[in-house]
Amino acid sequence: MPGKRVVFLGPPGAGKGTQAKQVVAKLGLLHLSTGDLLRDEVARKTELGEKAKGVMDRGELVPDALIIDMIRGRLSGARNGFLLDGFPRTVAQAEALAGITDLDAVVNISLPRDEVVRRLTARRVCRGCGAIYNLTFNLAAEESKCRACGGELYQRDDDRPAVIENRYDVYEKSTAPLIAFYSRRSLLHSVDGRLGSDAVLAEILRILGA
Ligand code: AP5
Ligand code: MG
Repeated sequence: MPGKRVVFLGPPGAGKGTQAKQVVAKLGLLHLSTGDLLRDEVARKTELGEKAKGVMDRGELVPDALIIDMIRGRLSGARNGFLLDGFPRTVAQAEALAGITDLDAVVNISLPRDEVVRRLTARRVCRGCGAIYNLTFNLAAEESKCRACGGELYQRDDDRPAVIENRYDVYEKSTAPLIAFYSRRSLLHSVDGRLGSDAVLAEILRILGA
């Protein structure tokens, strides 16, 4: 049986990346995070990275056509199922995705604005392996190396308070309409992102029948 075809929706900081890493490890899916792919393009100073950097630093969305081009080829190689994290983010992206593949489930992880700001200002990420930490519960202030790979921990350029607020505004305007889009197609499942990480994971695995 081919693997599941899953989308994670949700505002910045809802826990999409944290959960995606665990779900793909358990179900053997291909993890495609458009944010991670774009940050890699920025780090390698590619043409796409140069176009995306300023947009990302302001918390705006990279143009749909660039994102769809970036994701299309990668999806065609995902024979054992995939988990899309941070894509689609606009109705135009969702319509393009529908022209490429069917989906089995869309999981919407919700989180209110005040909690998003609290979590993202305390987030640190490993430059080496992408492990995600938080100063409020699993990282001490003096720790500067990743526990998994020893890589350098850093704060994302878009995790500054003013940019976080703008990312949430952009989410509400451009991405939240996808909740109704996928609800109409009977694909939507909702998870309360305020729960602890283990409870969120258990709920997602239940939804995916794993
Ligand atoms: P992207 O990288 O996708 O950022 P985002 O959607 O804003 O989401 P985040 O990665 O910030 O949050 P997350 O939900 O993954 O949370 P995490 O697990 O890290 O996109 C960045 C930018 O790229 C965009 O602004 C845009 O410019 C561009 N872009 C990307 N995709 C695009 C697209 N499709 N179209 C156009 N432009 C695009 O968790 C957050 C923190 O909370 C961590 O510290 C974590 O440890 C902690 N945490 C996680 N779960 C819990 C829990 N249950 N309880 C307490 N703390 C928790
Ligand atoms: Mg993420």
